[in-house]
Amino acid sequence: MDHNIDKLLKEAREFKAETREEIENFRIKYLGKKGVLSDLFSSFKQVPAEQKKELGQKINQLKGFIAEKIDSLSQNLEKDEAKDDSVDLTLPGEPIQLGARHPISLVRNQIIDVFGRLGFTISEGPEIEDDWHVFSALNFPPEHPARDMQDTFFIEKNPDILLRTHTSSVQVRVMEKSQPPIRTISPGRVFRNEAISARAHCIFHQVEGLYIDENVSFADLKQTLLFFAREMFGQEVEIRLRPSFFPFTEPSAEMDISCQICGGKGCNVCKYTGWLEILGCGMVDPNVLDFNNIDSNKYTGFAFGMGVERIAMLKYQVKDLRLYFENDLRFLEQFRAAY
Ligand code: DAH
Repeated sequence: MDHNIDKLLKEAREFKAETREEIENFRIKYLGKKGVLSDLFSSFKQVPAEQKKELGQKINQLKGFIAEKIDSLSQNLEKDEAKDDSVDLTLPGEPIQLGARHPISLVRNQIIDVFGRLGFTISEGPEIEDDWHVFSALNFPPEHPARDMQDTFFIEKNPDILLRTHTSSVQVRVMEKSQPPIRTISPGRVFRNEAISARAHCIFHQVEGLYIDENVSFADLKQTLLFFAREMFGQEVEIRLRPSFFPFTEPSAEMDISCQICGGKGCNVCKYTGWLEILGCGMVDPNVLDFNNIDSNKYTGFAFGMGVERIAMLKYQVKDLRLYFENDLRFLEQFRAAY
């Protein structure tokens, strides 16, 4: 037995562990209910009395050694785990990368905000539309050349279904559902069959405006647009309305703002005219009111429509339209601090 204990002690001394599981198995092997030490203690009963003292000491020594060994193995393992550099609590935290709003969203929200303060609500309509809402109800007669002003994506199997070329179609949807007073803007995506270049894209964004009530006049239109231009581009901005043509408004106009870059003196941005075109507008054509069951003898209205990219280009001086669609983070991150 004596010899056996020496052997066990030697074995225990040489034991190495790399995992908690190995240490636990070691503990069970020696100190467990049916373990080595429990065996030794049971055989101890049969040992002749004169050997008991010496053997008893040896068994207790072994037991003490095993307990210490388990402690030191566990401590070493903990030290190794702490050395593992995946948990260095002294490192500074990783900064969370904050996203930024897209410049088109920034400008769209700003337009919505300005008109919101004048009491305009927001209306939305479908991007896949029919001929009636995009053209016919807006006073584009069939086969009329005005339809060619906007290169349209038609659905081949059914040319009555098309991608809306302007958000003016939402005017029609609003008029179908409600009677004046109507004061609403419709922001949204529009589609035109254009080759993509720095100056043209097949997808872009517009904000349409519509105001119908009794006694709405061209002066109301002009005042509303002047307020918008000054809120958007600064209080010193001047506006100018030039006669134009749209089938759904009569009279129609295009609005320019004084060039923000040169202050109206002339530069290459305004092509030395001192003015920049920003939107189309006019008094709602009585035909459009009649098509949509609004009494044109009682009500008048004005409408306007602008391109969000156009306003963003003027605001941020970014002239290549494609940049607004490519989602290049190096471009987008520059708008983090904007508005
Ligand atoms: N729908 C026109 C376009 O896409 C813009 C427009 C012009 C809208 C005049 C209007 C308006 O409401 O009165 O080119």
